[in-house]
Amino acid sequence: MLGFAPAAASGEDACLVVPSDDLAKRPGLKDQAARRGLLIGTAADRDTLFASPTYRQAIRRECTLLTPENSMKWERLRPAPEVYDFTKADWLVDFAASHGLLVHGHTLVWHSQLPPWVDAWTRRDHAETAMIDHIEKMVGRYAGRLRSWDVVNEAIDPGDGRADGLRLTPWLQHLGPAYIDVAFQVAAAADPKALLVYNELGLAYDDEDGARRRGHLLDLLSRLIAKETPVHAVGIQAHLSADRPPSFEGLDQFLGEIASLGLKVMITELDVSDQTLPDDMALRDCLVAATYSAFLETVLRHSSVVSIGTWGLSDPHSWLNEFAPRADGLPPRPLPLDAAMTRKPAWLAIWDALEPS
Ligand code: XIL
Repeated sequence: MLGFAPAAASGEDACLVVPSDDLAKRPGLKDQAARRGLLIGTAADRDTLFASPTYRQAIRRECTLLTPENSMKWERLRPAPEVYDFTKADWLVDFAASHGLLVHGHTLVWHSQLPPWVDAWTRRDHAETAMIDHIEKMVGRYAGRLRSWDVVNEAIDPGDGRADGLRLTPWLQHLGPAYIDVAFQVAAAADPKALLVYNELGLAYDDEDGARRRGHLLDLLSRLIAKETPVHAVGIQAHLSADRPPSFEGLDQFLGEIASLGLKVMITELDVSDQTLPDDMALRDCLVAATYSAFLETVLRHSSVVSIGTWGLSDPHSWLNEFAPRADGLPPRPLPLDAAMTRKPAWLAIWDALEPS
């Protein structure tokens, strides 16, 4: 079996052949990332890790950072307003600790994957009490054990039509824009040492939508910083697609602006969808890898970037199996490892991008 290293252009001709036994012999991505002082991670859930020793082993081999994919979300943790079920979140944090992995918490305040009982909120104080209690309990419980937290996730949606670009969420509806400030303040009080992250989607591409999202986020971050809100880093989700031109100039400029605000950057949810690519597996792998290369080449120019995290490490564990299935029914191949935990061209693209210059 062969691996393919992407060259600058896209398409099959752009792929250089690298024997897969050569890939298998290399140290983990974590060793390559460490040469540049970077953390490298992935998202996973307790049930997936519990069920698969080979996945656990692959994560230990490649990663230094673990993000709970779903286990710390409200719908999983909060079956009823007064009830917290920490079982799976605790398991993940213990797993990470016992294997020397750092943990990035995900996510404290988000509009999605909320439990149905939040629909019953009718007053401001219902939402405020619930949010503050949640942040205090979560951040407090894991204080000193989590390196960082996505405090607020996806608060921007220009499509919702507000001048400030804020998404219409239950948080905004009940608490107004200041919910973002309050969330960061409460998190900082609960763990003064954690790196507090604002995490956002749709920032990567050179199109009008990306430009609007970046503009609104810069305005939001400037406002937070002016009010001395304790935000320390920006999380760039980076759910990319291999069928889009890998053009990231706007992102490059944005990362420069983020750095001049004094903020760090975490790449939090990197993956590359092959949903609409032709069925040829080698070609798909090559185009996916080329997108990883172009994206990482851009972001790794910036010393503000402290970590690279993929949203899953091996293809069968990607959320895209459910959220972006291929019309031909073939399993998607958006991640660095395949189902057998074999290193793919995407893995090589990450490895090459991490090579110290
Ligand atoms: C996704 C998970 O991967 C899925 O398992 C779940 O069903 C839905 O959420 N942005 C985020 C993540 O911030 O929390 C999402 O994770 C993917 C998009």
